Amino acid sequence: MFEQLVGKLPVGIAVVDAQFQVIYLNDFFLDRLPHEWRNTYKKTPVTDIFTEQGKFLKRRLKSVFVLRHPSFSYWEQRPHIFPFKSSRPITGEETQMYQNMEILPIKDKESGHTYACIFLQDVTAQASYFRAQQKLSHALKQEHEAQRKLIKKLDSAQSHLIQAEKMASTGQLAAGIAHEINNPIGFVNANLDTLSQYASHLVAICDGVETHLFEMEGELKEQIKALYNSNRYALLKDDIHELLVESQDGLTRVRDIVENLKQFSLDNKEGMQVIELKGLLEQLIKLISTQYGKPQYKLQCDAERLQVTGDPSMIKQALMNIVLNAAQAIEEKGFVKISLLEQEDTVTVKVLDSGKGIPPQLHKRIFEPFFTTKPEGQGQGLGLSVAYTAIEKHKGKITVSSKQDKGTVIDICLPKSQPDLIDET
Ligand SMILES: Nc1ncnc2c1ncn2[C@@H]1O[C@H](COP(=O)(O)OP(=O)(O)O)[C@@H](O)[C@H]1O
Ligand SMILES: [Mg+2]
Repeated sequence: MFEQLVGKLPVGIAVVDAQFQVIYLNDFFLDRLPHEWRNTYKKTPVTDIFTEQGKFLKRRLKSVFVLRHPSFSYWEQRPHIFPFKSSRPITGEETQMYQNMEILPIKDKESGHTYACIFLQDVTAQASYFRAQQKLSHALKQEHEAQRKLIKKLDSAQSHLIQAEKMASTGQLAAGIAHEINNPIGFVNANLDTLSQYASHLVAICDGVETHLFEMEGELKEQIKALYNSNRYALLKDDIHELLVESQDGLTRVRDIVENLKQFSLDNKEGMQVIELKGLLEQLIKLISTQYGKPQYKLQCDAERLQVTGDPSMIKQALMNIVLNAAQAIEEKGFVKISLLEQEDTVTVKVLDSGKGIPPQLHKRIFEPFFTTKPEGQGQGLGLSVAYTAIEKHKGKITVSSKQDKGTVIDICLPKSQPDLIDET
């Protein structure tokens, strides 16, 4: 009865001797045995019956006989040791049986011979479930990765939109302010001119009276002298000119700011034209290098002529502001290198400087209108916001990367052509 039970077990059991010859096979093996071996399997080496994995079986059996230790083979490493068909094709895809195999050494007490008992387990169901899970988990991972990328993209698109929105509203505000300030500046400027002339006349009159004092005598002379002294004429005369010059300087600065504000609001559109970038940058470098002599300027160009379509004044202003910043970032020796690179539908202007760089915590702020780290009077903080709005209007992109004390790279990527011409200010 015991033998019958072993014979019917739903696992494969085979016993072989030290020459690997088959002593016993249970039904699991017998049912699946190739026809030609049905009656002749006994005393035949198992490795001759199952030749495909013969070498592997031989190695394992050898180690069991030599070491007297069980040997285990897991389906993931070697899925099909015996070429059996799957008895339970779950999905219909698994035609071959997945197997776990364990070989145990057993000793026959009577004869003293050692045998090896091969246990074979059909794990097709587990294997195909495991495989399906693996596939699913891989798909999930990929989906997760895709989602993460999408979220990142959305995030950057959103901050781009917020920035663009901020720029647009600030632009409108700037245009309004510029317009309002322009009028008073006009008359204050005119009045200052007249005041300067009046002041010179008054000083001339007072100086004239002062020279005539020498010819005077008596109380009148003393009275006039006292009048000059009590009003501190000498000081007034010295100061009045300086005050007027300073005021005029101040006014010029206000005028510059208003001019920049106008640029920022992109009031002065010239309309779309073809712009030749190399020539434009050469011009720019000439202009900037006369004012900022410290850096060396280099211009490198992929092709002799690289053109984009755009509003020349906007593009010029944007590039000017960026190159100017690069030049201003060089405090002692250094270089500003501008490269023009051509892509299929775009042109990238790369402005690289070896200047002081931008601290990471400020990267986000540099495009804000009126954000500046420069001393009063030197920076208005409008350069990059103007550039940003201009490039945005051309459906281009500005990206910044910078290392403190090493330098900064600003990439301006512009489409070669403008399909829907900008007109939405
Ligand atoms: N190439 C650069 N190197 C170092 N800092 C820079 C560079 N470009 C811009 N910045 C920083 O960004 C700020 C804003 O620039 P911008 O808008 O042009 O205003 P401004 O030049 O008037 O300060 C600058 O004050 C500076 O701190
Ligand atoms: Mg600037």
